[in-house]
Amino acid sequence: MLEVENLNQYYGGSHILRDVKLTVPDGKLTVLLGRNGVGKTTLLRCLMGVVQTKSGSIAWRGAPITRLPTYSRVEKGLAYVPQGRDIFPRLTVEENLLVGAASKKAPKKIPDRIYDLFPVLKDMRTRRGGDLSGGQQQQLAIGRALMSDPQLLILDEPTEGIQPSIIQDIGRTLRQLVEEMGMTVLLVEQYYDFAKDIADRYWVMSRGEIVAGGEGANMDADGVRALIAV
Ligand SMILES: Nc1ncnc2c1ncn2[C@@H]1O[C@H](COP(=O)(O)OP(=O)(O)OP(=O)(O)O)[C@@H](O)[C@H]1O
Ligand SMILES: [Mg+2]
Repeated sequence: MLEVENLNQYYGGSHILRDVKLTVPDGKLTVLLGRNGVGKTTLLRCLMGVVQTKSGSIAWRGAPITRLPTYSRVEKGLAYVPQGRDIFPRLTVEENLLVGAASKKAPKKIPDRIYDLFPVLKDMRTRRGGDLSGGQQQQLAIGRALMSDPQLLILDEPTEGIQPSIIQDIGRTLRQLVEEMGMTVLLVEQYYDFAKDIADRYWVMSRGEIVAGGEGANMDADGVRALIAV
């Protein structure tokens, strides 16, 4: 389980995250929903150590990780698919994947499980990342994160700007990671219907605070759609 307690974060003088408290249970898919600019990406950056947490604590499987550098968190089993994907457009698909393996314990060749999850990446392995469609780039970014063989996969709005058929594929893949590979997933989303279809658990963030949470199956009944509608 990932446990976040009273986390606060600031950019300059603005208080962005306010006493954020949430848990992400093992072996489940948890969605974090919230409108534009409420602090979702900032929270994920704190979880990965991309920005230094100002106050509060983050624990993974009982051990604090709040002050660890990003690479240590990756070694402990966390992986991150950033918003906007951030793939390397001039590197090939295969090279992009190998970047994700740039740690000591990770494989130096592409494991079959990555290509089994995303056959399109195998077909396109010698193409440049920049030549892929948006949806294929998103699959590449997820594949890259999976190269470190994570226990907790964190994704920031993977459906943003992607065609519906690939959104469905990504949803199925995330469920597969949880159900067949025992992975834990934390997914940041604004696309309500997609989130509702695949969530085991949910949290809602508004203006830097967690304002609701519960079972994925209760999202409609709990009125979550209205909480994130613009
Ligand atoms: N590097 C930064 N410096 C200053 N302010 C920032 C920085 N990054 C984000 N912010 C501000 O912090 C707030 C939270 O931003 P954040 O990116 O975490 O929101 P978000 O919920 O991920 O939004 P979106 O849904 O648009 O991705 C916003 O008001 C944003 O303008
Ligand atoms: Mg964001």
